[in-house]
Amino acid sequence: MRPVEIAKDVYWVGAIDWNVRDFHGYSTYEGTTYNAFLVVDEKVALVDAVKAGHEDQLFQRVSQVIDPKKIDLVVSNHTEMDHSGGLPRLMHRIGEAKPVYCSKMGEKNLRMHYRGGLNLQPVQDGGSLSLGKRELLFLETRMLHWPDSMFSYLKEDKILFSSDAFGQHYASLERFDDTIRDDIWPHALKYYANILLPFSGLVEKLIEKVAASGLEFSMICPDHGILWRKDPLSIVNAYARWAAQKPEKKALVIYDTMWHSTEMMAEAIVEGLNDTGVPAKPLHLRKWHRSDIVTEMHAAGVMALGSPTLNNGIFPSVADFLTYIKGLKPKNKIGAAFGSYGWSGEAPKILHQELSGMGFEMVDPLRVQYVPDGNAMEDAYTLGVRLAKSCLEKLA
Ligand code: FEO
Repeated sequence: MRPVEIAKDVYWVGAIDWNVRDFHGYSTYEGTTYNAFLVVDEKVALVDAVKAGHEDQLFQRVSQVIDPKKIDLVVSNHTEMDHSGGLPRLMHRIGEAKPVYCSKMGEKNLRMHYRGGLNLQPVQDGGSLSLGKRELLFLETRMLHWPDSMFSYLKEDKILFSSDAFGQHYASLERFDDTIRDDIWPHALKYYANILLPFSGLVEKLIEKVAASGLEFSMICPDHGILWRKDPLSIVNAYARWAAQKPEKKALVIYDTMWHSTEMMAEAIVEGLNDTGVPAKPLHLRKWHRSDIVTEMHAAGVMALGSPTLNNGIFPSVADFLTYIKGLKPKNKIGAAFGSYGWSGEAPKILHQELSGMGFEMVDPLRVQYVPDGNAMEDAYTLGVRLAKSCLEKLA
């Protein structure tokens, strides 16, 4: 378990979680990392901790640089337990009286998580802490993505410790954007689409605030995944683009099906969209993970959602997906609801209402009794054509 010196006397000392596959409902096929950083100056600072159960990796990495007991202070940029869960064991090891610097909301939230035992020292937005030759600046990033979230900036080295922002769930021994062999961008987008999307307005404001501050970055170090050093602003610019949620000429037809009738409709809608110039694909909700669908959905100008009617309602997998995207607040989408039914046929109406309530620009729903015949398939195809035309008009 080796540390990585990312700048002179600044070390990555985090933990690699190769095997996590579900991160509170987000699929992490590639695992993740919990990044923590050691700054060795006249005072020794540890920026962020790791998830409980991974403390030994942190201790082993720190031990190759200094005796962990020589850590003078800890900075907690974010209370969520993947970064703070290891704090109790860490503080027990290095000395419970040592200060843990955090935002004002961090103080409140850490107290509610760990109920005492931590010497919490709240810092002001824009406040600073001298480590000797170096200074740490603190920048509150409230609701990005928790009320307690903040960034820490190592002034002399121009290193931003950005907590969850700019992260990716990706386990690797490679630490930097310029050494990684895989394409990291799909992982960064998936992270944005599933974690930060609902806060896109705040992301835009934060980017403006940071630009106005004149801060320069030699490196941006998130708490998950690889660190951005080749072109740190590339991820900031990507966030500005993703936050804008500008729709593109792309459509998704998302559905579940009982006896393939809703699936037949989905495929006809996809054909109508594609034939009219809007690339589309069908996504079966029990074949695709919700967090991957949300990533695919990010720039789509059109989203059609289909469900059979089951016991006068919608299918459970469709309800799960609706609940998930409702919280993520996607914007700028044209929508449609569709589905097959046996006798009552409520599902398309329910989906239409739900998506309208979320701000989708809806076209009329389409429902078909039992198995679609030639005419019904033509209606589904025509729905695809209509959606494509609306999308093309909107983007013109
Ligand atoms: Fe990586 Fe919000 O925790």
